[in-house]
Amino acid sequence: MSESEGAVASELSQLTGAHGFGAPNARDAVRALRPSQIREVANAGFGVADVLPFWFGESDRVTPQFIRDAASRALADGETFYTHNLGIAPLRESLARYVSALHGATAPSQIAVTSAGVNALMLAAQLVAGAGDRVVAVTPLWPNLVEIPKILGASVETVSLTYDPRGWTLDLDRLLAALTPDTRMLMINSPNNPTGWTMTRDEQRTVLAHCRRHGIWIVADEVYERLYYGDDARVAPSFLDLAARDERVIAVNSFSKAWLMTGWRLGWLVAPTQLMDDLGKLVEYNTSCAPSFVQKAGVVAVEEGERFTQSLVADLRASRDHLVAALQTIDGVDVRAPDGAMYLFFSLPGAESSLDLCKSLVRDAGLGLAPGSAFGPQGEGFVRWCYACDPARLDAGVERLRGFLARRGNA
Ligand SMILES: Cc1ncc(COP(=O)(O)O)c(C=O)c1O
Repeated sequence: MSESEGAVASELSQLTGAHGFGAPNARDAVRALRPSQIREVANAGFGVADVLPFWFGESDRVTPQFIRDAASRALADGETFYTHNLGIAPLRESLARYVSALHGATAPSQIAVTSAGVNALMLAAQLVAGAGDRVVAVTPLWPNLVEIPKILGASVETVSLTYDPRGWTLDLDRLLAALTPDTRMLMINSPNNPTGWTMTRDEQRTVLAHCRRHGIWIVADEVYERLYYGDDARVAPSFLDLAARDERVIAVNSFSKAWLMTGWRLGWLVAPTQLMDDLGKLVEYNTSCAPSFVQKAGVVAVEEGERFTQSLVADLRASRDHLVAALQTIDGVDVRAPDGAMYLFFSLPGAESSLDLCKSLVRDAGLGLAPGSAFGPQGEGFVRWCYACDPARLDAGVERLRGFLARRGNA
């Protein structure tokens, strides 16, 4: 090759990539996914020595000892091999008893163990939604539920909750109007991250009847079902209470919230038995199975963890009430106690541009909150505060917020 031919070849390869197929980019659908704005705020805090982080959705407490011990025992016993795609039999049996006690008869054959809730959401979406399908999601919402169907080439229409003096509510007529007969799947999360909004049984009944009429799948993300403070019930209303197990309803759940097992990556699905062979194939091609010693610890969490979960929920309720009362002493903060999950989603001066506000809060006040816009455009104007931590830390955070707003002349 002459020198000038070489120069042309090198210029061409810069334009088209080394092999002439263009730059080595991911698929368009993947490139179009929204990056996490919570990460963006966390990145803005790099270099700030003393940050109080309330931005992520996890407790500051470690997994209970009895569950960690179970994992250690399983490792010591050599539980290091692949398992059945749908999970080990003892865990599916324990989960079937647990789900039956909370929501009515459920068989092990209707349970699949997954690598946490987010993997369960992906599997559920992969089972029923594909390229060109129409999906509806209720927002503001943890972004994964909106982005996952897009990875599969589906289009997602959002229906926004309404914010008024009662807090966040669902305009049922708007949701039903969006659930057109050509809709493939509804993605709905209750209790909801970030708002704490919890769907009522009557709302669920109406939505289920509508989806039955049109053959629409419901993927119900119920990972916060145990973090419920609405009445004396030990679990939030669930689609599983109303639907038969052979209907187009898939319930997604997780060990992350009720047993503080975020880092373990263990969850489950409740789905019609007819789906399970196909689901097994999807698990095989995604992860093959959840880790075996983690599944063993999961059995102990389900079988022996009820007292722990109930005391965790009591602590969370107290933290929620504590934080609401403290924030209500700050001028300009509009906050209410929601019925579920572990977040306050509230407005305050400057939150019209919540990403900028949260970056300033972390840089100037060492306070780590999640911007409302991270949960879709409908979340703009709000910030999310995870209250799953020690009340003294919440107080320290509130004082940082008060000082920040005072310096800005807002309070
Ligand atoms: C609404 C919602 N669904 C699912 C998950 C998934 O949790 P995990 O993957 O830890 O089970 C989360 C985590 O925060 C969540 O907020």
